[in-house]
Amino acid sequence: GPGLTCKVFGQTDYLYYQELDSTNNRARVLASEGYPEGTVVVADMQTAGRGRRGRSWYSPSNQGIYMSVILRPVLPLKEISRISLLTAVAVAETFEEELNLPARIKWPNDILINDKKVAGILSEAVTDMDGIEYIVVGIGMNINNQLQEFPGDFRTAATSARAEDARPVSRVKVLQGLLARLESHYLDLLAGSFEGTLKKGKSLSVAIGQVLRLDTINGFLVGKAIDIDENGFLLLRDQSGIVHTIISGEITILPL
Ligand code: BTN
Repeated sequence: GPGLTCKVFGQTDYLYYQELDSTNNRARVLASEGYPEGTVVVADMQTAGRGRRGRSWYSPSNQGIYMSVILRPVLPLKEISRISLLTAVAVAETFEEELNLPARIKWPNDILINDKKVAGILSEAVTDMDGIEYIVVGIGMNINNQLQEFPGDFRTAATSARAEDARPVSRVKVLQGLLARLESHYLDLLAGSFEGTLKKGKSLSVAIGQVLRLDTINGFLVGKAIDIDENGFLLLRDQSGIVHTIISGEITILPL
């Protein structure tokens, strides 16, 4: 597989499909069958690519990277969001370093270029009484799409590497770069050194310092994002000065 420079990811179990409903669906089945950590599932296209909050992920052939990796971290449950943060950092770094594009992270896991979404992350965890059984981390990256090819409802909000810089690129090379960065941040985390990743995540974040609206399943909150804590949670100070620790949700940066 293309994970040639990796120690673990995609090294023994690299599964490529021309077409899948969703790489996350496939990886979840494989994980439940006992496939090991580092198993990588890639599809050239997805017929039912899934996004967060029940949304779909536009997954045409020959354009994007649709990839899922199985992780089996020995980690306390409260630290599980660190996986999201490190994934976002690895994806943003891949756009920056492989493609020379100014990618930023919109907490918790959208990747933006020039304020438009270029990649998304869907992490799905299965836990049991001992903690995390496995996590499927799914990443979708828009690479060679021409802007006008996006469906109408994506067009104003989405972008691709190609649309930002016009140069067609090898998806395999980008995938290799992604897997190498993902693995390196992940191995750091397991080795107990998350500091560097966190620092990078904060510096790439578009939320910190901004006034924003947070939508959760329980309603919404308006406040200023003041920091991301050591677990990857967003610290939001509301109008009355109370600081809320936000585990998950959807943010909208408000114009001042
Ligand atoms: C989001 O931004 O809402 C998350 C999008 C995640 C899309 C990727 S593509 C590969 C993997 N398989 C899926 O069905 N979804 C993720």
